[in-house]
Amino acid sequence: MRATALAHSNIALVKYWGKRDVDLNLPAAGSVSLTLAGMSTRTTVEFDTGFSADTFELDGEVASPEATFRVSQFLDLCWYDDERPRARVVSSNDFPTAAGLASSASGFAALAVAATSAAERQLNEAEVSVLARRGSGSAARSVVSGFAWMSRGERADGMDCHAYSFADPDYWDLRCVVALCARGKKAVGSTDGMTHTMQTSPYYDAWVETVAEAMVSAREAVLERDFERLASVAEASCLQMHASAQASRPGVLYWNGTTVELIHAVREWRAEGLPVFFTIDAGPHVKVFCPASHVEKVRDRVADVDGVLDILEARPGHGARVVEDDA
Ligand code: DP6
Repeated sequence: MRATALAHSNIALVKYWGKRDVDLNLPAAGSVSLTLAGMSTRTTVEFDTGFSADTFELDGEVASPEATFRVSQFLDLCWYDDERPRARVVSSNDFPTAAGLASSASGFAALAVAATSAAERQLNEAEVSVLARRGSGSAARSVVSGFAWMSRGERADGMDCHAYSFADPDYWDLRCVVALCARGKKAVGSTDGMTHTMQTSPYYDAWVETVAEAMVSAREAVLERDFERLASVAEASCLQMHASAQASRPGVLYWNGTTVELIHAVREWRAEGLPVFFTIDAGPHVKVFCPASHVEKVRDRVADVDGVLDILEARPGHGARVVEDDA
């Protein structure tokens, strides 16, 4: 009753921002993303009837009671009946969690795969994606490889709300240069930020209305490897999502000065002929996309922008999977 899984982070090209059901964690609209190799979580789950309590170790340290409780609740969903044995969960990220880079996507995707495998459940990819979604909406997408389509779904029980891959990681060698623009955790987590936007932003409904068309357009752009079109859709989705959050009362503003400098810089580079676009999640960091052929130049330029503290580079990656247990 032990298994280890590896999952990568993912970045939304068409964003998810808002829920239609908070309990089941069902998004108000779908999303389109790219699973990224180079930012990973590795998680081992061991169930044992001899354990008296669940324990959770993250990056070599005992996790907080809140984080452990969240893991326990999620493990309950992964087990097949009410008699779940307690578990030991050991997890590590190969990117700086404290920098506020998303870790819930790779974290819950790895946990879903490791826990269901340790429980010896035979689930297909869509079923694992549904489970991962209960932990975090974006985690549903890290279950699958490459370019992912996350369906909003129509069913009240959420069983049709999951991701699937519509293009493999090697279909299009895009690169994502992640510019770290601040240290420390973000002030408002994405769950709280989107709930607040839903409750107080006059632009929230308008934002949700943009998503379905943007998803179709992003998928077509990927399938045609049309960089310019993808750049246009992805930047619009990012800015529309942030505009809806910024229009809340009080406004949720994830950017700092460096974020804004990078937005302007990326637009200037593109005007000069460099194929680049930006996207930003619920934090100040900017993710700059380009074709693999241009990544050296883009890295150099991003590193030169004042305020950029560090750079990570990621490429299209595979979905969450069981890996050899090295303990
Ligand atoms: C801005 O998946 O972290 O990154 O479902 O509440 O855990 P929960 O939210 P989460 O939200 C991600 C928001 C985003 C956009 C995106 O990844 O689509």
